[in-house]
Amino acid sequence: MRVGILGCGRIARNHVAALRAVDGVEVAAVADTVPGRAHAFADAHGIPYASEDVDLLLESGLDAVTVCTPHAAHEAGVLAAARHGVHVLCEKPIAVDLAQAHRMIAAAGDAGIRFGVVFQRRFWPAAQRIRAALDDGRLGTLTAGGIVARLNRDAAYYAEPGRGTRAAEGGGVLITQVIHHIDLLQWYLGRARRVTGHCATLVHGGVIDVEDTAGALIEFASGAIATVQAATTFRPGLGIQVWVSDADGHTAGLTEYPEGVGFTDVWTVPGPPEPVHAYEPGSGPDLTLPAIHDHLAPYHARQIADFVAAVREDREPAVTGRDAVHALEIVEAVYASSRTGTTVVL
Ligand SMILES: NC(=O)c1ccc[n+]([C@@H]2O[C@H](COP(=O)([O-])OP(=O)(O)OC[C@H]3O[C@@H](n4cnc5c(N)ncnc54)[C@H](O)[C@@H]3O)[C@@H](O)[C@H]2O)c1
Repeated sequence: MRVGILGCGRIARNHVAALRAVDGVEVAAVADTVPGRAHAFADAHGIPYASEDVDLLLESGLDAVTVCTPHAAHEAGVLAAARHGVHVLCEKPIAVDLAQAHRMIAAAGDAGIRFGVVFQRRFWPAAQRIRAALDDGRLGTLTAGGIVARLNRDAAYYAEPGRGTRAAEGGGVLITQVIHHIDLLQWYLGRARRVTGHCATLVHGGVIDVEDTAGALIEFASGAIATVQAATTFRPGLGIQVWVSDADGHTAGLTEYPEGVGFTDVWTVPGPPEPVHAYEPGSGPDLTLPAIHDHLAPYHARQIADFVAAVREDREPAVTGRDAVHALEIVEAVYASSRTGTTVVL
């Protein structure tokens, strides 16, 4: 299978490694709109074709493409793939707003292509363990859940062009970092029905025009209530916790620390005990962005292998475009609630 990559920035190298790990997959082409970037990336990674033109990339005989561009450019990449009948796996978030997301899903459906979205944290064993306990009934009706995201992003991170801007990213800590964990929360708790949130730029205000601090209260259709606390203002970053609890008080949780690595941190669920790891904040792991991307690589590999298999087996991928929408809907509702000072009903 010939696969291309659109957008030759930081995360694209995880895609190259993950695609090459799948038997019979060739990373055949790359494109990037910044002059010279695709050719430099192709040279560095031994990729035979590079272009600055998305249409030329998609006309180079590809079966599938992965989209690794900034958030605001996801829609254009996916629509182009649909126009050319090329299956597409898009990085998170699906888009910067719901209107874009729905156009992308419709275009992929009309074109008859497979459309997946990267939420590779769903592939952590610690995340799947919770889903499996829900599926086999060891966890019952969930009544509560939460996310605490205490992250560090410094001035150097935000100094990169586009980072921390509404124009390129559509928002801040919620849409860029914590959408993964909001996706996990809704994977476990189902659809949200009411969202109240507050967002602020409290520390990085000179450099970014999006939130670096957010809090939200989410009521799910089941009646369960969850809270979200998220910020990129911690020094050092202390990782992210996600937990859920059922009507019998059984609780399952995971911690992501260092960023990219998820492990079970709470497990009071009936059945065989699971190994629970201690949380050791600030105890010395490499918390730089390249290290975070390295930690994520095995899970990118799992989701990309699933996407390739989905194309080959003519089935839906593990996370479809449609599956990826609700996390964005929740984030958008937090933003709308914060702007209007009201509770948003979904
Ligand atoms: N799944 C994860 O854990 C994870 C981790 C990091 C980043 N990401 C996501 O991956 C995507 C890319 O992130 P990144 O950190 O690699 O960004 P980046 O800024 O390093 O790279 C983006 C690249 O896209 C190129 N580009 C911009 N607009 C384009 C267009 N219209 N067509 C083609 N190329 C275009 C830029 O020139 C740049 O080279 C984002 O959606 C981001 O949220 C996901």
